[in-house]
Amino acid sequence: MTGIEGEKIVVLDLGGQQSQLLARRVRANRVFCEVLPYNVPVEKIQGESLRGIILSGRPATTGGEVPLSPQVFALGVPVLGVGYGMELLVRLLGGRVARAEAGAGGQEQLAVDDARDLLAGFNTGETVWLEHGAVIEDLPPGFIVLGRTENFPVAALAQRDRKLYGLLFQPAVEETPRGMEVIRNFLYRICGCRGLWSPAAFVAEQTEAIRAQVGGGKVLCALSGGVDSSVAAALVHRAVGDQLTCVFVNHGLLRKGEAEEVQQTFAEKMGMKLVYVDARERFLKRLAGVTEPERKRKIIGEEFIRVFEEEAGKLGQLDYLVQGTIYPDVIESGMAPGSRLVKSHHNVGGLPADMNLKLLEPLRKLFKDEVRRVGAELGLAEEILWRHPFPGPGLAVRVIGEVTAEKLAILREADAIVVEEIKRAGLYREIWQAFAILPDIRSVGVAGDERTYGHTVAVRAVTSIDAMTAHWARLPHEVLAAISDRIVREVAGVNRVLYDITAKPPATIEWE
Ligand code: XMP
Repeated sequence: MTGIEGEKIVVLDLGGQQSQLLARRVRANRVFCEVLPYNVPVEKIQGESLRGIILSGRPATTGGEVPLSPQVFALGVPVLGVGYGMELLVRLLGGRVARAEAGAGGQEQLAVDDARDLLAGFNTGETVWLEHGAVIEDLPPGFIVLGRTENFPVAALAQRDRKLYGLLFQPAVEETPRGMEVIRNFLYRICGCRGLWSPAAFVAEQTEAIRAQVGGGKVLCALSGGVDSSVAAALVHRAVGDQLTCVFVNHGLLRKGEAEEVQQTFAEKMGMKLVYVDARERFLKRLAGVTEPERKRKIIGEEFIRVFEEEAGKLGQLDYLVQGTIYPDVIESGMAPGSRLVKSHHNVGGLPADMNLKLLEPLRKLFKDEVRRVGAELGLAEEILWRHPFPGPGLAVRVIGEVTAEKLAILREADAIVVEEIKRAGLYREIWQAFAILPDIRSVGVAGDERTYGHTVAVRAVTSIDAMTAHWARLPHEVLAAISDRIVREVAGVNRVLYDITAKPPATIEWE
């Protein structure tokens, strides 16, 4: 491998959640990084571009043990064991580990014994986060201590001749404020990396690669307005220009202004060939009388494929289909490289399997934050790059009960107010999703001297890392007040606003 993947770090994942975070931090330091399961054959790790290995994560059960092959210490590249990874390294190389006292861990102060490489730039007293309950009792032969904390007499260690290092604290978490520097030290002082990976370099290299792959072929892309498909389309367009045609299906279940924005951005501003399909009537007709959530999803999914196929059929010979697959989709699928994740509800808005097109997945190696940076590099607006996730079946799963044009109109207005007020308060980016729901509830109210009988709107705002779990956002009361005041004032037919204060689990993020 030459180019931006000409130097590479492999994070060997021992289990749990930490590895992706570490890999993202490595990449943020401009070094390409892959996450591989710990039991991958060593030939898969080895290679000309390999500069170092990080052992990260831990087995799911406490006291469980990962049968890591000691061969990884003999590949001739530096190895850094982190947390449980360090414990494993110590044990496999002949040291002794005991369980820590209950209560040890969390944030502690690091005392530095040796700041020559891994801890370069560190003075005694830096705060570090240790979540791992292991104490090193005996060092493996040839190792020295680089740093300690009150409860952990060995918090960092090294065997410089063999380039083996260990950190008991987590360098990738916010609770270790200067952890990034430890990662950088490992990459640049120990592994000798040069820093070849960057959004600009990625765009330049991918553009060439896409051109080479596609040749004179014709490319099709289903644009949804979401971050991934937008960036994928922009990148492919940069590479092959008018050989790309994007199809955007307006199913009438979009947020306010979304359809117009997609047309403005891609057709007018970027000059892409864009087929805009107004299928609003069609979807509404098929949804008439349907109240059951999974039925709605199924109908929308099927209809989407039908519309998309009809449009593609009008375009003549096509060769490639662009997909916005990103790296977490690739690695999360049971940690088997190359396999795919299909979350059951994510196949809505999915594409037909039998179109006989070759797949083009230009974002396959990128984390979400990198997708955004690549998008910015390609000139996409912040509104698109930072837009909250939106379900494929759109507002249909936020109108509880039957979906009608009237209800969609109410929901769209209320939803726009929720988003506007959250943006105005400067909270949009720290919130995972914020939106309005139209439950099938009417309640009594007063307006002037009259009694009203109007719709209730619910507001949901959650924080989350990956949508698997979520907390309800602790929005300031003033923001909630502004949202509520504006909805009852500006959206005709609504006289009551609720805020959903349920976590996931037990609730889901969406109401249907
Ligand atoms: P739940 O409601 O399951 O949602 O907590 C988790 C995440 O998935 C999104 N979601 C969907 N996305 N099609 C999609 O493409 C769907 O049918 C669907 N249902 C939920 C939801 O918005 C959240 O981000």
